[in-house]
Amino acid sequence: MITIVGAGRVGTAAAAYIALKELDDILLIDIIPNKAAGEALDLAHAASILGLSIDIRGTENYEEMAGSDLVVVTAGVPRKPGMTREELVGVNAKIVVDVAEKIKKYTPDAIVLMTTNPLDPMLYLMYKKLGFPRERVIGFSGVLDSGRLRYYAAKKLGISPADINPVVIGQHGRSMFPVPRLTTIYGKPLTELLSKEEIEEVVKETIAAGATITKLRGYSSNYAPGAGLSLMVEAIKKDLKRIFLASVYLMGEYGYSDITASVPVLLGKSGVEKIYELPLNEEEKQLFAKSIEAIKANIAGIPKELL
Ligand code: 2OP
Repeated sequence: MITIVGAGRVGTAAAAYIALKELDDILLIDIIPNKAAGEALDLAHAASILGLSIDIRGTENYEEMAGSDLVVVTAGVPRKPGMTREELVGVNAKIVVDVAEKIKKYTPDAIVLMTTNPLDPMLYLMYKKLGFPRERVIGFSGVLDSGRLRYYAAKKLGISPADINPVVIGQHGRSMFPVPRLTTIYGKPLTELLSKEEIEEVVKETIAAGATITKLRGYSSNYAPGAGLSLMVEAIKKDLKRIFLASVYLMGEYGYSDITASVPVLLGKSGVEKIYELPLNEEEKQLFAKSIEAIKANIAGIPKELL
């Protein structure tokens, strides 16, 4: 059974995409009374219409997650127009600590996929609170950011996004690092296919994407996070050994320790089965370092009594 904590827009979108793939039964949990039950019932009707063989339930009781092997955490307050993800640290840190306690109690062997913003510091906090091996505490953001890079680059190139292998590493925030030289189309780097100005535009659009959506419609993204989460859940559930960009706790990789950041990882039934170090050049190493510094500053913003 897959548990999704938080039956808001991201949680329910993830449930819908996961249901479509019939990866496993789904339990939605939300602390708002009846919210998860109502959302789950609507999703269950959709599954019935589509003839999908899965069960979708909703509850406010965490006990019901017992036995779940995968927990997707979407709980937390999303940002409003004009806000940065970093401004959510204080309010969401308390929620993360609370959810961590429940996960430890009811699903101590589960793999945990985090989406709560600001992603990297909230993943750091979750990792510290859970005390699970880092392989089982994974942050969702790289799939979203690289998916967006792929979208904007594909538009400029006039090709399908499917043929672009995008790389975005570091922070899920304003200091995220899209790497054009390592973003390739059948081995050809983006830097050889687009002009400097075009690349700058693609990078800017990618970094601003989440804020652009929030500004346009008044609330933050959910379909793209839901879609991306379903791919990561699928890779874990089916032991696909697929490589995704995801935030993980670093222990010496890229020369960094005791920090969470997005890097390429191999996902399989044990969670993160390998972490890859990209061949960054000197300039790229410096840009990655800046992104790491930004995450460090975010982590420093977590109230001390919660860590
Ligand atoms: C985004 O980038 C909500 O952080 C999420 O859209």
